[in-house]
Amino acid sequence: MKLIVAGATGLLGTEIIRQSLQIPEITQVIALARKPIQTDGSLDSSKLKSVIIQDYGEYSDEVKSEFDGADACIWTVAITPFRTRSFDFAEVKRVCQDCTKLGFEAMYQAGPTRPFRFIYLSADGTPRDPSKKPAIMGEYQVMRCNTELMVFEFPKEKKGVEVCIAQAGVIANSTTWSRALVANLFRVVNFIGRPFPNIDRNELAAAVLDQAVNGIEKETLSNADLVRLGQQALKARKSQTS
Ligand SMILES: NC(=O)c1ccc[n+]([C@@H]2O[C@H](COP(=O)([O-])OP(=O)(O)OC[C@H]3O[C@@H](n4cnc5c(N)ncnc54)[C@H](OP(=O)(O)O)[C@@H]3O)[C@@H](O)[C@H]2O)c1
Repeated sequence: MKLIVAGATGLLGTEIIRQSLQIPEITQVIALARKPIQTDGSLDSSKLKSVIIQDYGEYSDEVKSEFDGADACIWTVAITPFRTRSFDFAEVKRVCQDCTKLGFEAMYQAGPTRPFRFIYLSADGTPRDPSKKPAIMGEYQVMRCNTELMVFEFPKEKKGVEVCIAQAGVIANSTTWSRALVANLFRVVNFIGRPFPNIDRNELAAAVLDQAVNGIEKETLSNADLVRLGQQALKARKSQTS
């Protein structure tokens, strides 16, 4: 299968690319990003194609031709809440919402395989009712809510499309010492259940890859669903290789 990973240089996108190279069912990986991706030199990257764009809202015919025949896309592009302070809200909305639509349309125009699975990364706690503005980051949250509602319309507007919204909790990982500290705190707290929704980066990447390869379990996946699917997928992969 041919997989497009949009936002391939992000925190999650990087891990999705790393794992996708180890999944035999995935025969082609299109890494869509604004800069060249760095891959782990120990992995065979012969099925990886890096496609660089200036902006996630503009797709030339050359770029669209790289999307031809894709089976799935995992869309991770967004300005995340902590980064919003550096941008006007109009730009935040453009990147998070308008570019999602423009990216999907470019992939659809390129002629994907049917069904074409579009997996959109969202966040735990995103409201489903845009009239209910949360007290914290209300404008941003309502915009992400409207983006989810927009993605749900894709299969109604275009034939042969399936969508999935992954509402992930905080991504726990150890890319920096401060992130490692938070990840370890989550590990300790998770012993008493999972009071703060969180997920390891490798589990989340495995969960969305599983949905892209094996089919969508349901249109909205909660953090608990993603943890379960990710752990199952990683366990299955480990038993295949041992
Ligand atoms: N991190 C978390 O704890 C967490 C938790 C729940 C849900 N999520 C969701 O998961 C998705 C991926 O998150 P992440 O942590 O991987 O985020 P990230 O590292 O910030 O990566 C997001 C992607 O969006 C692109 N992007 C960021 N700002 C942009 C801008 N101004 N213009 C164009 N592109 C821009 C980045 O491109 P560049 O690499 O070129 O900058 C990157 O490819 C997001 O939808 C996020 O809301 C994240």
